[in-house]
Amino acid sequence: MKALVLSGGSGTRLRPFSYSMPKQLIPIANKPVLAHVLENIRSIGVTEIGVIVAGDGAPIREAFGDGTRFGVRLTYIPQETPSGLAACVTLAGAFLGDDDFVMYLGDNILPEGIEEIAERFAADRPAAQVVVHKVADPTAFGVVELDPEGRVTRLVEKPRQPRSDLALIGVYFFTSAIHEAVAAIEPSARGELEITDAVQWLLATGGEVRATQYEGYWKDTGRVDDVLDCNRKLLDELLPSVTGTVDAHSVIKGQVVVEQGACIVRSTIEGPTIIGAGTRVEDSHVGPYTSIGEGCVLRDAQLAGSIALAGASVIGVTGLHGSLIGRSATVGRAARHRLVVGDHTSVEVAA
Ligand code: G1P
Repeated sequence: MKALVLSGGSGTRLRPFSYSMPKQLIPIANKPVLAHVLENIRSIGVTEIGVIVAGDGAPIREAFGDGTRFGVRLTYIPQETPSGLAACVTLAGAFLGDDDFVMYLGDNILPEGIEEIAERFAADRPAAQVVVHKVADPTAFGVVELDPEGRVTRLVEKPRQPRSDLALIGVYFFTSAIHEAVAAIEPSARGELEITDAVQWLLATGGEVRATQYEGYWKDTGRVDDVLDCNRKLLDELLPSVTGTVDAHSVIKGQVVVEQGACIVRSTIEGPTIIGAGTRVEDSHVGPYTSIGEGCVLRDAQLAGSIALAGASVIGVTGLHGSLIGRSATVGRAARHRLVVGDHTSVEVAA
């Protein structure tokens, strides 16, 4: 069994971050989304992983290399233009061969893991085993209809009038039967080859399609609020450990990680919170639910429910919450508001 991770796409909803890095590299609890994905795949015993990347995928290659550090073997498959999830299966044809595989969207987070679903697929080997989750607004997703016995009767991509509230989430198990299906379908109204249509084709031509309902927490980390929500969820599972230094005037409350070389001076760190390696925190209050990356500087600062990426600094600013601060970005104090704001950035100023 192999895995195919889809890490192309342009990440328009995560601008400006996605201008400078693939959205799959955004850190959640100080680990890129893609690292969480690879860990889930590794935990079902799959180590042969193809990764679809936009263009030459340089930033992802740099971060993950050949995968050895994660106990897996990565094969990068470059994609020029995103043209649908089913097109990714075609693109990966040579890598996948006739093997069964799990297709995993590289921006999806399922902290409870996929072991049970993988076991069910391995036991029954239907042509496709999809995963569904009840959602409030199914029109934004592929939607699965089931009969009273729980058998899949129809799959429709982003229906205007959904006939069920079961959305397809970003994990699909396939046998090699899917290759004939992706070759048979036509582009959808949005001009993409939809994996939902390929699975519907399998069903319509007599293939066996099963759906497993996933009850746990699930997020497609497409927007800033999803990223922050996911961060809160993953920090709840944080195992406290302090390998950096904390001075006698500081207070550590609850589940807190202070990584190697980080330095906490006259500050309160309120868990769950993680302070990255080499970061300096002085006269500040950080947390709860905050992830600070490597090499950041926080001085006279107060922030909660936020994420700061590597090298960011917050100096003299209090009351920050729900913020996502980019790599080497600086947030500072001045007598009047002054903003140097990049394209498609959102800033909210308290009245
Ligand atoms: C894709 C799939 C959709 C699925 C969703 C899950 O949508 O086409 O069927 O429900 O991922 O995140 P997209 O993100 O391309 O809009």
